[in-house]
Amino acid sequence: MISLQKLSTDLLWIKGFFIILFSFLYFNLEAAEGAPCKDYGECDEFKHTLNDMSSLQSGASTFLTYCYGCHSLEYSRWNRVAKDLDIPEEIFFDNLVFDPSVKPGDLMAGSMSKIESAEWFGVAPPDLTLVTRLHGSDWVYTYLRTFYEDSSKQYGVNNLVYPGAAMPNVLASLQGNQQLTCKEVPIIAKNGGEKRDDFGNTITKQKCGFLTVEDGTGSLNEEEFDALIYDLTNFLTYVGDPDKVERERIGWYVVFFFIIFTTLSSLLYREYQKDYH
Ligand code: HEC
Repeated sequence: MISLQKLSTDLLWIKGFFIILFSFLYFNLEAAEGAPCKDYGECDEFKHTLNDMSSLQSGASTFLTYCYGCHSLEYSRWNRVAKDLDIPEEIFFDNLVFDPSVKPGDLMAGSMSKIESAEWFGVAPPDLTLVTRLHGSDWVYTYLRTFYEDSSKQYGVNNLVYPGAAMPNVLASLQGNQQLTCKEVPIIAKNGGEKRDDFGNTITKQKCGFLTVEDGTGSLNEEEFDALIYDLTNFLTYVGDPDKVERERIGWYVVFFFIIFTTLSSLLYREYQKDYH
């Protein structure tokens, strides 16, 4: 009787374990289903390089030239950014700060009134200090490269990552006119090869949704534009977590300390063991 009772509690435990396991797997699948970059699918991968000062400096310069007119970075201060990015304060203020009333210790509170901009765009441009923490740097990097022409929208553009975004494509003069186009792509057979007709010609079908930039409409080519957005996203990643570089640097010392400490204590342990035998 007792053993039967034990068996049934054991079974209960096993059942509980499987319920938890399956619900975990199920929620994981659910998360994977709604693609993180919406109509674009998976976001393009972004790897930050927060100790690459020239990348961060160029990102800051792009941000202050093209984005700060609408978006604030209201949890950062001007002089902290100048210091972290190794830009002498004088050069920083002469070249990148366009408002003469700004003082070095001020917060980067933006130059646009929230109420007016909400009237203009229907929604106030959000503060971007924490945007890479909110959506991830991958998302931001992909979002800024996936605007396309769409005449049904207020500004004539739409975005694959953020369909219906109320933001104009402010970098269009650099990137050029990007459009969604269709292409003939080969149909893949079940065995993984391309399907062919009786004469050996590849059978194709029309597939749409490819981003293509009209030749000669932008001042940068695709590679240069991607590099510009890389630096901009790198800068926004820094702004979202300005102590990250320092933390990662100190982390190595901690690991190093543990290695030495473990070696010393195991030597000491061996020394003590000798007294027992
Ligand atoms: C003319 C004003 C304007 C400029 C300039 C501008 N934006 Fe925006 N941006 C907006 C508005 C308005 C939204 C809100 C869109 C919405 O929610 O539909 C937005 C949204 C965003 C978002 C999404 C934020 C979120 O949490 O949903 C990001 C990221 C962004 N902008 C980055 C930039 C960057 C980087 C630049 C500079 C290259 C820039 N923006 C320049 C107006 C602007």
